[in-house]
Amino acid sequence: MFFYGDPNNPDLSKKVADALYTNLYYPEVTVFPDGEKRIRILEKVVDKKIVVLKSLCPPVDENIMQLAFILDGLKRSGATELSLIVPYFGYSRGDHVFRDGEAVPTEVVVKIIEASRVDKIAFFDPHSIKLPEMFKIPATPLSALSVFAEKIKEIEPAPKKITLVTPDMGGIRRILQLSELLGGVNTATITKERDLHTGNIEISSSEGEFRGTCFIIDDMISTGGTIVQAAAYLFEKDIKKIYLMATHAVFSADATTKLENSKAEKVFVTDSIPVPKEKQFEKLEVLTIAEEITKYLKD
Ligand code: R5P
Repeated sequence: MFFYGDPNNPDLSKKVADALYTNLYYPEVTVFPDGEKRIRILEKVVDKKIVVLKSLCPPVDENIMQLAFILDGLKRSGATELSLIVPYFGYSRGDHVFRDGEAVPTEVVVKIIEASRVDKIAFFDPHSIKLPEMFKIPATPLSALSVFAEKIKEIEPAPKKITLVTPDMGGIRRILQLSELLGGVNTATITKERDLHTGNIEISSSEGEFRGTCFIIDDMISTGGTIVQAAAYLFEKDIKKIYLMATHAVFSADATTKLENSKAEKVFVTDSIPVPKEKQFEKLEVLTIAEEITKYLKD
């Protein structure tokens, strides 16, 4: 098996390669003065089974093109079986037409990947639960929830003192799955409304009892608006131990400042998206999904 790491996420790539005791290869990437890229596969991969790791993280459009070029280079070089692992699947929030005339970006990205003749794909905690069924090839949703479960047990070993909170209705399934991994703990829901024009968020209501140590769980943190407002809402409800957990650290706009100044004790994300030095802050801890990827590849 030939394992091609993500040129934008060398740390995660190395962790996975080390755990698999396999060589780590990268495509050669050349950037021309006009910004166009040349991707070249340097190894002889004729009739080889290939695993490619590639996050579709910001800059998303650029990474989609890079992925398409990598896959094309591999196929043209004779690779037979292509398995793709996408730690963060960008554009998965655009899985349907919200308003007349809109494109459906998730479907477009799916088509690009399928056109690249990938044989199977796996991705982590996609925002859209429809993503696996959008693919005609085998598509496996993987999750960072077991990584979060271990961290939660470390912080609060008594299940009775734990409340898992979703900051929007779309995350109910996620907290129920996590509750199961923790042997059944209290869950609660916050309902938010997002203005489709401005992107502004408002908390409209909540359900369930907020008690003990609260863990707010989400698939991603982009501007930080959702999760930070949810933390402030819990703080007003007199919850003093609040932790934030999200698989994908998109960290756009001033998210990192908001998170550092939030009511949370700590913010946990994973390495599905690399967090550059300038986006790191004191309350942040990055957990790794390398073991989950390795387990999937060994199965
Ligand atoms: C949305 O429904 C997602 O689950 C996240 O809550 C959302 O995308 C996070 O975005 P932001 O950090 O910009 O509020």
